[in-house]
Amino acid sequence: MQVDFLNLQRVNESFGSELKEAVNRVVSSGWYLLHTELEAFEQEFADYLGVKHCVGCGNGLDALTLVLMAWKEQLGWQVGDEVIVPSNTFIATVLAVSRAGLKPVFCEPNLEDALIDVNRIEALITEHTRCIIPVHLYGQTCDMDRILQIAKMHGLKVLEDACQAHGAEGAAQADAAAYSFYPGKNLGALGDGGCIVTNDKELAQQVRSLANYGQSVKYTHIYKGVNSRLDEVQAAVLRVKLRRLDKDNARRREIANYYQENLKGIVSVPRIPAHPCRHVFHVYAIRTEHRDELQMSLKEKGIQTLIHYPIPPHRQQAYREFQHLHLPIADEWGRTELSLPMSPVMTDEEVEAVCNGFK
Ligand SMILES: Cc1ncc(COP(=O)(O)O)c(C=O)c1O
Repeated sequence: MQVDFLNLQRVNESFGSELKEAVNRVVSSGWYLLHTELEAFEQEFADYLGVKHCVGCGNGLDALTLVLMAWKEQLGWQVGDEVIVPSNTFIATVLAVSRAGLKPVFCEPNLEDALIDVNRIEALITEHTRCIIPVHLYGQTCDMDRILQIAKMHGLKVLEDACQAHGAEGAAQADAAAYSFYPGKNLGALGDGGCIVTNDKELAQQVRSLANYGQSVKYTHIYKGVNSRLDEVQAAVLRVKLRRLDKDNARRREIANYYQENLKGIVSVPRIPAHPCRHVFHVYAIRTEHRDELQMSLKEKGIQTLIHYPIPPHRQQAYREFQHLHLPIADEWGRTELSLPMSPVMTDEEVEAVCNGFK
């Protein structure tokens, strides 16, 4: 049996004619940017998350960058001011900090769950620290209570990188959160997309302006902005998919539980949180010393796996100025992590075939 890591065609076909109808509605409307589908989606996603404002933008990297740009402008942050990020994230988290002219400071994750180790954050805070970006990696919410407490004590902003955590309980409660709607996400568009969410009206307005050439009104530019918009087609598609998000996340948890039962004792399986809804299993990440051999052996049996992520940011050529850093836990995740097939449309037979592949 061939088991794909993620069969996007099957995911999107599972919506029947709904996605095509949504796209057709936009095609016929004559409006393709900044119109009613976007307005409706922003309202629906904000309501779903229980926040006041949602502002669509071009992708998750832009969402993160736009919030940092806005705060830099609003709060007078200087070039080179510091932002604490986990040392084992997807590169976009770090790129957003650099793009905003700020400096990433890497905090090691926990070996048990790959989330930022909250006990190490305070030691990294200096007089130049302005913000913490916890990443809800693989779909699991970080320890937000503790992070918000630390931030409050030190007068720091908190920007959640929720690009892998659509619908995870406990997320989207900080000053702002950034989402990606890349097609493979739990809530994925048919192309690129992203948004920021916040309860701060002023921040929402500023991000909306920055994302639209820094305009306040047409052809009046108050910021040196960018062009980063969530288009009407993607917004219409996301409205359809949002309605099924909780059900899809529940199926992901069911698959994760099955993996958990069948693989514990063979490899290091992720810890299921005490409140199971805090994990939406964007990625089901195991760890093993024999990662590369295991990946090869599963491949020979038709089971496709991926590695998230083989090279941590401080080891990337793009960030060679940080290669002297000693970040052994990020390295360990990079060396041992393997992501198993995961999607809400996987059949029970496929899930079983993955587990049998380990025997
Ligand atoms: C943790 C994390 N942050 C940021 C991003 C960036 O999102 P995008 O690819 O939409 O720019 C992604 C996804 O790709 C991600 O997984």
